[in-house]
Formats: sequence, structure tokens, C-alpha cells
Amino acid sequence: MKGNRICRLLGIRYPIVQAPMNWITGADLVAAVSNAGGLGTLGPNAGADTITSDVDETAERLRRQIRKVKSLTDKPFSVNFLIGYEKWDMSEVGRRFSQRCIEVALEEGIPVATTSVGPPQVYTRLLKEAGVKVLHAVSTAAQAQKAEKAGVDAVICEGYEGGGHKALTELTTMSIVPMVADAVKIPILAAGGIADARGLVAALALGADGVHMGTRFIATHESDAHPNVKQAVIQSRDDCTVTVNKYLVAGRDLRNRFTTKYPEMMAQGTSVEGLFQHPMYRALVRGDVDDGEIPCGQSAGTIDQIVSAAEVIESIMQETRAVMKRLEARMPSNHS
Ligand SMILES: Cc1cc2nc3c(=O)[nH]c(=O)nc-3n(C[C@H](O)[C@H](O)[C@H](O)COP(=O)(O)O)c2cc1C
Repeated sequence: MKGNRICRLLGIRYPIVQAPMNWITGADLVAAVSNAGGLGTLGPNAGADTITSDVDETAERLRRQIRKVKSLTDKPFSVNFLIGYEKWDMSEVGRRFSQRCIEVALEEGIPVATTSVGPPQVYTRLLKEAGVKVLHAVSTAAQAQKAEKAGVDAVICEGYEGGGHKALTELTTMSIVPMVADAVKIPILAAGGIADARGLVAALALGADGVHMGTRFIATHESDAHPNVKQAVIQSRDDCTVTVNKYLVAGRDLRNRFTTKYPEMMAQGTSVEGLFQHPMYRALVRGDVDDGEIPCGQSAGTIDQIVSAAEVIESIMQETRAVMKRLEARMPSNHS
């Protein structure tokens, strides 16, 4: 993959980025991915098993995780910062968290930042001036152009198949990646529905330079997901996920009692946090797979084993050639 732009940009061997996932992408997973030749990403609440609403404690937790990653690998890795939208009631609070976490991350000298859930211009310049490479998550071609203008190094195209919070535009990976490839010059990572070599080859064919995978890494030995969650992912089938409407975004989750009750509660104007106390924490950390929220992408239906992060990456890279050969064999023979 010598000619691969994402590998060159990030200083990695393979164009596979482990996506940030709230609560479950801590230092062990991140270092395992980076040591295997991909790029690991610390997510929000990385390594934590208790909830805190204290800004400084959150940032110091992140500092400890960054130091742990550095003790486990000398390879590049990323840290996710949730920017926060102006429209959100919580944006002021959210910005206090992201601002302080970025300060700490810069003190610790991180090589790459993944910014998401907010406008790219808020932190890009600060990060770039500190020599940090910036990957920014987008859901439309217009957002990708805005991110390119703001100076980010690469965009992550988030398709609707993916797990976690998705844009209400509902653009799937198949649709958004080529549109973004036509709209910007910077490298592109395809995200959503990609879990194996077939997905990597398809993403490259659509115009991406690499992939950004979340759901596949939930079911790895190194992820911090509760064992019940890993089991739920490997047991799930093709119709296992559903999106729940969260006003400004949709959340793609594994279907359970939480996703069934959620729309009713929203219609009644009930506070979800009130009825389901910290629903993601409840599932991902405490293992309540019935009443907790399990963000999860549609690719879960293809995942049937818990393996190591290195096995995920190695198997994708090993199978890529075979997938390409099959592709070649399927091309109509009379086509020059
Ligand atoms: C459990 C879970 C938690 C997530 N949390 C975050 C997050 O905190 N920040 C973020 O930018 N994206 C988050 N995402 C989205 C992922 O970073 C990624 O873009 C998505 O998982 C890609 O699609 P896939 O799940 O089909 O691989 C989350 C996804 C999952 C499945």
C-alpha cells in the first residue's frame, strides 16, 4: 500500500482506522490496532468504568489513557474530541469538555485527532498549529467541502449503516463516499457497514483511501465492551439494528427493549436520561443489554467471532488480494 494517501498521511502500514466508540475504545485496543499496522483511536470515556460530570477529571482520565497508549506502542494513534453543535442546549457544556480534553491532549503530544459531532472550524486550526493531523467526520459532500476549507487533513464519510449517531440525511456509505470523492481533494476514510476485506475493497472502489471501522472492533478481545455486549454483537443477524430518532441525529443501535421504548418516551416528552439513566454506560460498561443502549452498525450481522484486534487487521489485509481476484473474475469477459 505504498501509494496509499491515508497510510502516508498518518504514517501507518494499512489503511484501516479503528473508529472511536464511547466507553469501549481504551488504551489496550488502541495500542493493539496501532501495533498491528492500523490507526487506533481513543474514544470518549476511554478506559473509564464510572461516570463523571467533572471536566478536569474527564481530561485527567484522558491524560492517563494517552500515557498508557504511549507505554504500549510507539506507533501513531488518534484521540476523538466531540466538538458539540451550537444548536444543542448542551453545546456550552460540551465545549468545556472538548476544550479541556484538547488542552491535555496537546500537552501530551498526540499525533492525530479525530473531531466529530460539530463544525470543523472550531478546533482545526488549534490542532494543526500544534502539529496534530486532523481527521473530521462528515455526513454530506457539503460538510466535507467545509471541512477541507477549514484545513482538516482527511474526512471520514459516515454512512447511515454505521453504528452510533448518524445524520438525519440518511446517506449510506455507497452513496456518500463517491459524492465526497468528487467534491474534495483531501484523503477520505469510508465509515459505516465495513467489517472485512470485501468492505475495504468496495470502499477503495468508491473513491475512499481507507476505512474507519467501529462495530467490527466491538467484538475484539481488547475492546472494553462488557462481555454481554460482545456476545450480543456476534449473535446478531442482518435485521438486528434500528435507528432511534434523537432530534438532531439518529442513533443506530442493536434492537432491544431500550430501542422499543425510546420512541414512545420521546413522543410523551419524557426525558430519556430520566427514564434510562445513562443508557450507553448501562449497556456498554455494566452489560445491561436489554434496557441499555448498544450503538451498533449493520455489519454486526457479518461478525460471528470475538478475535484479537490484530486478527481483524491481518485477516482483512490477507483476504484483500483474494477479493480483488474474485472481482476480476466477475468482470464481463468481452469488456476491454
Ligand atoms: C458503540 C459505538 C460508539 C460510538 N461512539 C462514537 C463516539 O463517541 N464518537 C464518534 O465520533 N463516533 C462514535 N461512533 C461511530 C464510530 O466512530 C464509527 O464512525 C462507526 O462505528 C462506523 O460504522 P461501523 O460501526 O459500521 O463500523 C460510535 C459507534 C459505535 C458502534
